[in-house]
Amino acid sequence: MNRSESDNKNIWHPFTPLVDGLEPLLVESANGVYLHLHDGRKIIDAVSSWWVNIHGHSNPIIADAIAEQAKKLEHVIFAGFTHEPAIRLAENLLTILPSNQTKIFFSDNGSTAVEVALKMAIQYWHNQGIKNKTKIIALDGAYHGDTFGSMSVGERGPFNNAFAPYLFKVAFLDFPTEENKEKLFHDFETLVKSNEVGVFIYEPLVQGAAGMRMYSPEILETLLSIAHQYNVICIADEVFTGFGRTGKLFASQHMNSQPDIMAVSKGITGGFLPLGVTSCSEKIVEAFRSAETSKTFFHGHSYTANPLACAAANASFGLLLSSECQKRIQQISESHLEFIAQNKNHTAIKNIRSRGTILAIELQTKNGTSYFNEKAKQIYPYFLQRNILLRPLGNVFYVLPPYVITDEELNSVYTSIKDFLEELVLET
Ligand SMILES: Cc1ncc(COP(=O)(O)O)c(C=O)c1O
Repeated sequence: MNRSESDNKNIWHPFTPLVDGLEPLLVESANGVYLHLHDGRKIIDAVSSWWVNIHGHSNPIIADAIAEQAKKLEHVIFAGFTHEPAIRLAENLLTILPSNQTKIFFSDNGSTAVEVALKMAIQYWHNQGIKNKTKIIALDGAYHGDTFGSMSVGERGPFNNAFAPYLFKVAFLDFPTEENKEKLFHDFETLVKSNEVGVFIYEPLVQGAAGMRMYSPEILETLLSIAHQYNVICIADEVFTGFGRTGKLFASQHMNSQPDIMAVSKGITGGFLPLGVTSCSEKIVEAFRSAETSKTFFHGHSYTANPLACAAANASFGLLLSSECQKRIQQISESHLEFIAQNKNHTAIKNIRSRGTILAIELQTKNGTSYFNEKAKQIYPYFLQRNILLRPLGNVFYVLPPYVITDEELNSVYTSIKDFLEELVLET
């Protein structure tokens, strides 16, 4: 049996239909922005492999840090024991997270970081004996992960229809725009005024999976100040936006009002190993600081704070804060803005937008923008044939490269996009 046949027979891939799906490409190795395929092709990973790979593939500094750690301590139970990589990582993260964040809780991925955040917020009210703050508000179109809690606070639809009866109730606020903001502030205030809202969860400034939908810091600033005014716990899901993606280390740093709880993951290890982190402010910690067993946060995973993942994250942290990386983040952000200025009036484009290192292109389409738009079937193979990985969200596709991408490599991606847009015009 060849490798593809064996894969097809034995493996169930995520977000992939079991029939009529595209055959997965066999990757032999990866280096910098390139994926090296078994068939000899070399593909630019322009989406950072599901948005995780911030320093390029097989970065030697992170690889060495993991190897060194593996020879010393690969894993240890994290209840009753601790270790240097976790202690150092918590210190490191607290120097770059918003200054009100004071404690770090480890888990394994973005969904669990969100799950922990929700449980912390809910138990925050429970531990104080406050019974009326049971409502949760999320934003229309949200994606917070695939566990039951994170699905509950996410957009309801084809991704989770099968589980609808098992998801808890959440009030969804319209996605913020310049046009609807006044009504939105009013609706939000009406909801939170009831004093029954305990939690507000949001993806700050960019909803990734919803199609790289963007909204302004000014709108979020107002929503956060209303939430704080009515004592609602604010959870910033920075699983996607963290670690430089939006031009600042965290998207929350585009606002003055800060979240009470934050969920981060994806870029944290530079894309080497799974790791999730939920941080929180002293106000949250206070509600758990008790010798009463019932007030303990009873949550954990076998691999909580895995030392290899923490070592990778510490190495990635050093790279992220280097002046070279910070400069590259600004340069990529500027290149995206230039590309937008040059192409914003293209007839094939409905909307083109960026926030930091994220560039999103929404194509004109007869059927309206959606994840299931047929255009995706055209976009993905077009770029793959040109050795570029761009994984569309329906008729929206995006460039979200590892920060090590060179100008030349980025320009080759832009050129292919321009060619694609021209071909779309010729088709119509
Ligand atoms: C904003 C946000 N939250 C949570 C998640 C879930 O993260 P994971 O896939 O690591 O479980 C994602 C994944 O795309 C995300 O974009």
